[in-house]
Amino acid sequence: MKESGQENAILGKIISTNDTPNTNECFFVVLGDVKKGQYILIKDEKDVYIAIVNELFSANKYFERPETVMDYEKVIDITSHFPTNEWNYIIANCRIFGTITEELKLERAFSPPKPGAKVVKISEQILKSFLGFVDDGLNIGNLNNHNLEVKIDLSRLLQKHLAILAMSGAGKSYLMSVIIEELINRKKENGRIGIVLIDVHGEYKFFKHSYPTQTEIIEGEKFRIPLKKLSSHLLNEWIEGITVPQMREFDNILNELKNTAKKELKPFSLNDLEVKINELEAKSQKKEIKNLYQIIKNLKALKLFAFSEKPNLKEIVKPGKLTIFDLSKLTNDRAKQIIVHYLSTTLFKLRKKERIPPFVIVIEEAHNFAKEKAHKYNAIPKAAIETIAREGRKFGASLILISQRPVKLSTTALSQCNTHIIMRISNPFDQRHIEESAEGVDNYVINSLPNLHVGEAIIVGEATNFPVMFKVRRRHVENKKNELSLKELAIKYEQEIDKFNKDVEAFI
Ligand SMILES: Nc1ncnc2c1ncn2[C@@H]1O[C@H](COP(=O)(O)OP(=O)(O)OP(=O)(O)O)[C@@H](O)[C@H]1O
Ligand SMILES: [Mg+2]
Repeated sequence: MKESGQENAILGKIISTNDTPNTNECFFVVLGDVKKGQYILIKDEKDVYIAIVNELFSANKYFERPETVMDYEKVIDITSHFPTNEWNYIIANCRIFGTITEELKLERAFSPPKPGAKVVKISEQILKSFLGFVDDGLNIGNLNNHNLEVKIDLSRLLQKHLAILAMSGAGKSYLMSVIIEELINRKKENGRIGIVLIDVHGEYKFFKHSYPTQTEIIEGEKFRIPLKKLSSHLLNEWIEGITVPQMREFDNILNELKNTAKKELKPFSLNDLEVKINELEAKSQKKEIKNLYQIIKNLKALKLFAFSEKPNLKEIVKPGKLTIFDLSKLTNDRAKQIIVHYLSTTLFKLRKKERIPPFVIVIEEAHNFAKEKAHKYNAIPKAAIETIAREGRKFGASLILISQRPVKLSTTALSQCNTHIIMRISNPFDQRHIEESAEGVDNYVINSLPNLHVGEAIIVGEATNFPVMFKVRRRHVENKKNELSLKELAIKYEQEIDKFNKDVEAFI
């Protein structure tokens, strides 16, 4: 393995302790600049080992025995009378991943490094290959303690779905916007996919200013499901309480309306459906039919239906294009759930027929749409999301689930996400849930979670060869609106009211 002089600079020497070095763990005396979390190489005459610094311990023989320190300190200050600084040293504890061959292949270590083996810097090339970063990958951040961009292969990151999990304010949406930037700016020859984003808080709209041609915003209140797609089966998915005889009657009336519309080339509306059902109820003696009218009224109140689909879902997914469904102004929770249900089922069907390009659907606040323990009508899109989670990878339909409450998120969906990016989490229930549902999440990862800062993350699973801790990169464009603090929001609110009052006074 050829390395530059700098990479051969000695960082430390392996020491022998009671049960180390072994094939998994070793300690070394630090002789250079070494940081916790840094990757290093250990070289003895036979092998080159790759390892990570788990922890650093500071030691000094002047301060080893408490009673001696106590006795001395009663009369003098030890540090000013003895050359204590010269006896400071640092010991590093390392986890050994294995040995690497000349071809940069990682192999399991079958024998431990020798005490006295030298510890040296790892080159960028070895580290990239070891962690599985690629040059045409998505650049989502920088590796802690190394000057290396975390560039993840598109398929490895998304094909088998991604979950971004962390407590509120840890930086999930920021990271998501970095991923979107990478997907939008991707070159055609590297493979571009369509991005469909369920934006619950309207916090991604700023993309339209920075990437006007690649971004489309669809306001939730303008979204319309075509009446021709309506069926008793869908009605049963969306609204509780419909009985089998009611379903039968509903389909009869709907078919009648559809046939008339076809014959007369005239669209029908939900009002027509309502009138028909009303008529049926008036003349029918059957008890079961009685509530159908109310169900249709509930459906109408959602304001989600029209003769044709809006927008036309076949048109909205394009390679390298971001389509934001802004649900922030919708107050009706059921309407939001139905939109996500309709979108996930329809887009997946269209993708299976190859009518739209490969795409990823990003679901913010995923625990509200795919709730683990919920009544069916409080988690309307759950089954559809789970279907994409199970089958999407075969068809190029990927999922990104973002959640601050992993405990509440469907375990089926979560366990199908083969990559997890986890940021700060302090709740032990959420930590345990992640440990159980994600492969590769070990104690080391779990213990790191409460100490992560905003914008720091660990990526675990399919996307990289080993769990990697990194800092999310800065976004190229800034979302000015998102950056207002509570104080600024409060001031802005009152200023707007003052301005309004002044305008009214001036008008009067
Ligand atoms: N990598 C980063 N660099 C700079 N600022 C960041 C970074 N990550 C997050 N922030 C800032 O921290 C704040 C919270 O981030 P963000 O909105 O992404 O959190 P979140 O995890 O999505 O929270 P919530 O669960 O409430 O939606 C924002 O003001 C954001 O701009
Ligand atoms: Mg967020």
